[in-house]
Amino acid sequence: MDHIIEYCPRPQFLKFHNRTKRWACLVAHRRAGKTVAAVNDLIKAALTCKSKFAQFAYIAPYRSQAKSVAWEYFKFFAGTSARAINESELMIDFVNGSKIRLFGADNADAMRGLGFDGVFLDEYADFKSSVWGSILRPALSDKQGWCVFSGTPKGKNGFWEIKQTALRIPEEWFFMELKASDSHILPKGELAAAKAQLLPDQYEQEMECSFEAAILGAFYGAEMKEANIGPVPYDNNLPVHTAFDLGYRDDTACWFYQVIAKEIHLIDFFAVSGENIDNICKKVLEKSYRYGKHYLPHDARAKTLAAAGKSIIEQMAVHLGINSMEIVPDLSVQDGIQAVRKMLPNCWFDKEKCEEGIEALRQYQREYDEDKKSYRQTPRHDWCSHPADAFRMLAVAWKIEPKAKAPDREVALIVGDQNTATLEDVWADHNKFKRSRI
Ligand SMILES: Nc1ncnc2c1ncn2[C@@H]1O[C@H](COP(=O)(O)OP(=O)(O)OP(=O)(O)O)[C@@H](O)[C@H]1O
Ligand SMILES: [Mg+2]
Repeated sequence: MDHIIEYCPRPQFLKFHNRTKRWACLVAHRRAGKTVAAVNDLIKAALTCKSKFAQFAYIAPYRSQAKSVAWEYFKFFAGTSARAINESELMIDFVNGSKIRLFGADNADAMRGLGFDGVFLDEYADFKSSVWGSILRPALSDKQGWCVFSGTPKGKNGFWEIKQTALRIPEEWFFMELKASDSHILPKGELAAAKAQLLPDQYEQEMECSFEAAILGAFYGAEMKEANIGPVPYDNNLPVHTAFDLGYRDDTACWFYQVIAKEIHLIDFFAVSGENIDNICKKVLEKSYRYGKHYLPHDARAKTLAAAGKSIIEQMAVHLGINSMEIVPDLSVQDGIQAVRKMLPNCWFDKEKCEEGIEALRQYQREYDEDKKSYRQTPRHDWCSHPADAFRMLAVAWKIEPKAKAPDREVALIVGDQNTATLEDVWADHNKFKRSRI
């Protein structure tokens, strides 16, 4: 049976819809029509898919965003091809048995255990970087599903890396970039007005697809540009400390670090969402590092109603040991940010294990005041908040922590009055000393 989708693609998107490669990277300016193209690309795939029980996903950085930007479009364009619409699951069942479901990268665990024939990642530059590797890529394996990474740039992050991969392997990747100056989608007058109102970096990023433009309002923009990022191995002669931000309902983030003289080696990082304290501690112990201190925010001392009135610190101490638990002094957010800025030049990040944490620090941003058209001093709450808060804990903890000693100075060994004793004399003396203590 033929299905008609009430969609007339913008000519700029025809090449995209007609692509034949499994992987696609679509970089386009704001309001180009990425989301509408995503919706219709998925509906067409769902309706033309030959496999039984085919399943597709539209994924935005946040589930609430997926719902607010795309759900109405999905229902409208699915039209009479939809057999059932599930509002609470954000899922459409099509008459041919295929399904499309909407998700958010903030709640990526909801996708675990599912296999997809195709996924569209909208606004990929705002995704938590771990979601692709840990959840999405494996979910495409059994059905050899396809994936589109789409968005407007936001600095040299995971989306930029996808673009580099797409350019490097054109035999496997479809790549398309639409800049406002040559897409002709938005009228010239509108572009001129936007240019007059936006900051130059903002215009370059949002309209001209520049990955080079600074992330506006980023707290650590300058420092993270200079950050030391590369392989940073675990040194098993030194203890590993952790610094936590504990989300009671949402994300928990944890940095693992070693202090070597004035250097802070960030050797590992994890963020989990909705996990209980026992599982979080299990994750820490699984790493089998030799631990020093575990630094927690001051509210970890508050008694909870759950867990029989035990505080977070008491619950964690059961697994990690009471002597290693420390509460970090309660500094204001602004003071904490200053402490991080001061510390960042001394930090060395492991590129692979800390990837998500590094990206969060790069993107940790001020809130934008739409009325005043300026950035506030307060941080915006998004997926970057927890890793950045945990890093503030680390900066404050580092200030109070006794520093690991630098190697001792070399001191010449002078033995005997004339410095004439041999090594044998020294041993004889040493043994005498030992015997006299028995
Ligand atoms: N093929 C089309 N025909 C008519 N209107 C379209 C088409 N594609 C997109 N639009 C309209 O253009 C506007 C922008 O579309 P859309 O939201 O898909 O853009 P976007 O690139 O996702 O924008 P943003 O960068 O803000 O996420 C919307 O009003 C949408 O309805
Ligand atoms: Mg969009």
